[in-house]
Amino acid sequence: MTSPVPVRASESPFAVQVEQGKDYWWCSCGLSKSQPFCDGSHKAAGDFTPVKYTADASATVYFCGCKATGHAPLCDGSHKKPV
Ligand code: FES
Ligand code: FES
Repeated sequence: MTSPVPVRASESPFAVQVEQGKDYWWCSCGLSKSQPFCDGSHKAAGDFTPVKYTADASATVYFCGCKATGHAPLCDGSHKKPV
């Protein structure tokens, strides 16, 4: 059985100003129309579910847009690797 492959929503991360204590749901499937966050579109994509991120501080956070990060939901530089 093969793992489902997410859609590459962006070639670079999304910079988001997050608020301390607030929960965010990162889109892991790449189909959401409100990137980098889940809009429910994964229901058409099979095995994907959103990944919860709770902000421990108010800051700018770089959420992965390529969906290939090894450190979901944050960008780990994997978008620079050739596909
Ligand atoms: Fe992609 Fe929900 S829309 S995980
Ligand atoms: Fe996905 Fe950077 S945007 S690892």
